[in-house]
Amino acid sequence: LVAGVDTSTQSCKIVVRDAETGALVRTGSAKHPDGTEVDPRHWWDAFQEAAAAAGGLADVAALSVGGQQHGMVTLDVDGNVVRPALLWNDTRSAPSAEALITELGDGDRAAGAQAWADAVGSVLVASLTVTKLRWLHDNEPENAARVAAVALPHDWLSWRIAGYGPAGDPTAPLGPQLDKLFTDRSDASGTGYYDASVGEYRPDLLERALGRTDVLLPRVVGVAEAGAVAHPSVAGADVDGGALIGPGAGDNAGASLGLGMTPGDIAISIGTSGVVSAVAPKRTADGSGAINGFADATGNALMLAVTLNAARVVDAAREVLNVDFDELAELALQAPPGSDGLVLVPYLEGERTPNRPDATGTLHGIRLATSTRAHLARAYIEGMLCGLADGLDALRAQDVSVERVMLIGGAAQSPAVQQIAPQVFGLPIGIPEPGEYVADGAARQAAWTLAAASAEGGADDVAPPAWSTTIAATLAADPKPVVREQYAAVSDLV
Ligand code: XUL
Repeated sequence: LVAGVDTSTQSCKIVVRDAETGALVRTGSAKHPDGTEVDPRHWWDAFQEAAAAAGGLADVAALSVGGQQHGMVTLDVDGNVVRPALLWNDTRSAPSAEALITELGDGDRAAGAQAWADAVGSVLVASLTVTKLRWLHDNEPENAARVAAVALPHDWLSWRIAGYGPAGDPTAPLGPQLDKLFTDRSDASGTGYYDASVGEYRPDLLERALGRTDVLLPRVVGVAEAGAVAHPSVAGADVDGGALIGPGAGDNAGASLGLGMTPGDIAISIGTSGVVSAVAPKRTADGSGAINGFADATGNALMLAVTLNAARVVDAAREVLNVDFDELAELALQAPPGSDGLVLVPYLEGERTPNRPDATGTLHGIRLATSTRAHLARAYIEGMLCGLADGLDALRAQDVSVERVMLIGGAAQSPAVQQIAPQVFGLPIGIPEPGEYVADGAARQAAWTLAAASAEGGADDVAPPAWSTTIAATLAADPKPVVREQYAAVSDLV
């Protein structure tokens, strides 16, 4: 058996699968406090609770952890967290991002943006770890001075599973061995100080943020290389040699592994963040900042456009109209495509792509005829999907091949989203079987790591296991160009 763990912004989810067939055996989950600033100890508590809910992990031979990207976990020499982690959705470091960009361009913002894209694949935005370290340096110098190591959520949790942690903590029997921290190329590629195209950290860029280079960074292990063995009190007690801990992954790379994505595939995820991601053979360096050139968990690039206005736009529409999820879908489908000219540009609390942290939304085209609940419901859903369609265009502008779209995330289950998405994207859309794609990807990675461990040539000799999520339904393309034309005209005004 293998286990996949998803340590996400809100909860910890665990799936236990058969390593050979991928058959689902058990699951468990537990919520933890969310927000934009969280004490990592909550992730450890939620992991332990989720593992117990999954019937324990004593019988798994390997596990891997996928997790929310970018979060800044700072550790002191004793393995304590220096301050609560600043997460991907914390925007306080937006001015730090701008400062780092301009500094790298010697005062020229455009040159600086291109230089960051060339160096690490992405123009900095507040989500990326390096900007949070600059914020710490500038605003909490006494905390910055205590930092001995910087980790990401997934690699911190893997380290805890291996038995390491704060000195004196009974759940960390092996103590604070910071040099045992490890990560993988996909999550490292979201820090802003790792160049996945050559597989190397850029200490010079970290130094720009923190003013020093004597900070320990997690070792980046190979794509199917075990970074450690789980402590028997956590997992693998009943298995010879214990449970291997696979490299783990950033959540988007984990989902892409769970979905079995290969070049040409696009996943559009409508969750807390809206993510348009594509697997491509090589990352590009988009100086406009629309596309992040991250790495995937297999050796390819993971090109990503991230919007902040996804599921929460659907939630906002439900709030405004005082309806539930299904009633909102029914209402939206009563109005025609384009909602008779009623257009919502949904920058409800700023936006990341396009990079408009201070923008607000706009509702345009209100007339008597469009002052209905149905028009409003449809305008919200179309606006949210148009934001994601802009991300798809940004990928095309980087010559990323777009052959197949898979729609995932909670809001993708809405019948209105499923009917309107093929109109807005103008493409056929696959709806995968419902599942925990990140945890499933982590489980698939764990099975891959297990197979590589007994193969002579390691990962070079073994492909990822054949099993991955199946596509439950394919919706035919139904292009309605009016929707995006109207949206483009209004978003130009915002
Ligand atoms: C990606 C990003 C989000 C988080 C969500 O760049 O910031 O998708 O990974 O967990």
